[in-house]
Amino acid sequence: KRFAIFASGSGSNAEAIWQAIVDGQLSAECVLLVTDNPAATVLERAERYNIPSFSFTPKSYASKEEFEEEILVLLNSLQVDYIVLAGYMRLIGNVLLSAYPNNILNIHPSLLPAFPGKDAIGQALDANVPKSGATVHYVDSGMDTGPIIAQASVEIEGCDRTEATRRIQAIEHQLYPRVLQQVLNQQEVFK
Ligand code: GRF
Repeated sequence: KRFAIFASGSGSNAEAIWQAIVDGQLSAECVLLVTDNPAATVLERAERYNIPSFSFTPKSYASKEEFEEEILVLLNSLQVDYIVLAGYMRLIGNVLLSAYPNNILNIHPSLLPAFPGKDAIGQALDANVPKSGATVHYVDSGMDTGPIIAQASVEIEGCDRTEATRRIQAIEHQLYPRVLQQVLNQQEVFK
């Protein structure tokens, strides 16, 4: 299967996915990185893994439909089967949702449905929960609301923000490539 990663920031999850391909743990082809932030660090990581990228500035389009249409042309030309969101900081609109029904995945740094939206790690720390984690789910039109595919949890009790973030990211980097291997190759997902 062929997939594109959408990311807005650092791209540590994108890198974990690309490394899993290099290591032979993920058999699928990442044919494109899409970013809405031309200054994102993920672009440097993409270069290191020889992943072609498309960056765009949402402000220079009249609407979400317009930039999603442009992205869709690119995805079609590259015969992309799946869209993999990895820290993509915007909601997917109708153009891409209807072009890729059930074929868009996201990772979120909490045990959904707890703590959707921004700063999920901060939300979990503020709520004093002993455990948090990461969730991979299908994307629908809501914010972190689509059907859950798999989760992994980790203790965060007594952690400061840096340590909680480190622990949650570490499990994200394990979970996402593993789930992609199963979903993209249509295997059963073991939680
Ligand atoms: C991750 O925690 C992911 O769950 C969330 O955004 C963060 C992206 O981090 N959606 P990175 O850019 O992959 O390092």
